[in-house]
Amino acid sequence: SQPSAHGDADPQKLLSPVLSAHWDEPDSYTLAGYRRHGGYQALPKALAMDPDDLIAYVKEAGLRGRGGAGFPTGMKWQFIPQGDGKPHYLVVNADESEPGTCKDIPLLFANPHSLIEGMAIACHAIRSSHAFIYLRGEVVPVLRRLQLAVKEAQEAGYLGTDALGPGKDLTLTVHAGAGAYICGEETALLDSLEGRRGQPRLRPPFPAVAGLYACPTVVNNVESIASVPALIDRGKDWFRSMGSEKSPGFTLYSLSGHVARPGQYEAPLGITLRQLLDMSGGMRPGHRLKFWTPGGSSTPLLTDEHLDVALDYEGVGGAGSMLGTKALQCFDETTCVVRAVTRWTEFYAHESCGKCTPCREGTYWLVQLLRDIEAGKAQAADLEKIADIADNINGKSFCALGDGAASPIFSSLKFFREEYEAHLGGRGCPFDPAKSTAWA
Ligand code: NAI
Ligand code: SF4
Repeated sequence: SQPSAHGDADPQKLLSPVLSAHWDEPDSYTLAGYRRHGGYQALPKALAMDPDDLIAYVKEAGLRGRGGAGFPTGMKWQFIPQGDGKPHYLVVNADESEPGTCKDIPLLFANPHSLIEGMAIACHAIRSSHAFIYLRGEVVPVLRRLQLAVKEAQEAGYLGTDALGPGKDLTLTVHAGAGAYICGEETALLDSLEGRRGQPRLRPPFPAVAGLYACPTVVNNVESIASVPALIDRGKDWFRSMGSEKSPGFTLYSLSGHVARPGQYEAPLGITLRQLLDMSGGMRPGHRLKFWTPGGSSTPLLTDEHLDVALDYEGVGGAGSMLGTKALQCFDETTCVVRAVTRWTEFYAHESCGKCTPCREGTYWLVQLLRDIEAGKAQAADLEKIADIADNINGKSFCALGDGAASPIFSSLKFFREEYEAHLGGRGCPFDPAKSTAWA
């Protein structure tokens, strides 16, 4: 694994609030509050640039998608064909649903104008006049704030007629989803936005070629786009002064589980979980870290051996996991790993869209077997069976949901096989549920 780019730096000094700098101010979500701290200063700078130069600038800054995959944002914009005569669309994926992930929703609640300004800049870059936000439908207060912010931006002239220059209008549509995890998968999201049942499409073609209404479409995460105004305003060198060479910049980490102070922490990419725990008060008193996920349950879990692995696409990647959504769920020694994996697998089985057999049938079967293991009704051969089923889901399913469902099975068997074995042959769960608060 790759060591942190931030060495022995004082953890408190690593906090680098940019997007979250003013979340505690009562009017942070308003246009006045955003402008008071320099909001909408980046937009005229971006509009003064040629769209191709703007794309090149974002590429040179090294901004990588914050939704989970870490795909370079500028490169994604560059994929949009020019002079093709078709409308181009920007769609912001605000359907945040990965277990443990809670960064886009608070960002939208406290600072929606950073997203709107970033969207206007991105639309200039990809030559789009219509952008959409696909918001997770359950968060009604966020929807209201977002609609208010769009109205304010419209009235101030940042959206609407000539918003991007003479003859260059910009329309922004906010759409609330209906609560399906799969609609966060970019092509299912596009189907849902078009009014169909949200199920993944075959890729390629990627949305950059044939996306919304079969037109070239950029689908970006909320945090990715909201990071653009600060990048343009303060410059690519400032942006690159944080993080690591291949994963530069600041980012929002969602810290949850058995930690003293769960919440959102904004710091450079490439810090370690040890540094993050140091800046947030550590594990809850009297307990130690047993296992954790770097990016929600879809990323393979890691253990206390990985406390010093860099939280970037290279460090965690080298340790056999993925950075994913930077949702760090931390579990202490009171947690039964079999119970945790069962709970996650129940989630995937519930959210499987049913389009392909390995995921639809495999997740259901895994749940039955995991429940048997947890209850002590399984035998040693059942451990081989869950590994075999996970192997038949992983890489053989239609979309990333299937791979995500398989990953906790593989990694928990790799690191905690003895704990699975302790449940077998009628013994049941060795953990006292009264002492475990993880799944109460
Ligand atoms: P991916 O790696 O397949 O694609 C990433 C992005 O790059 C997509 O927008 C895709 O269209 C684009 N892309 C990739 N290759 C391309 C090419 N050759 N031409 C044009 N565009 C291309 O990853 P995917 O399946 O989109 O997302 C998986 C990630 O989503 C996981 O890492 C997971 O962490 C994350 N995730 C996030 C959730 C959340 O709530 N934020 C929920 C579930 C998963
Ligand atoms: Fe649907 Fe699961 Fe197949 Fe994805 S992997 S298409 S969620 S059934």
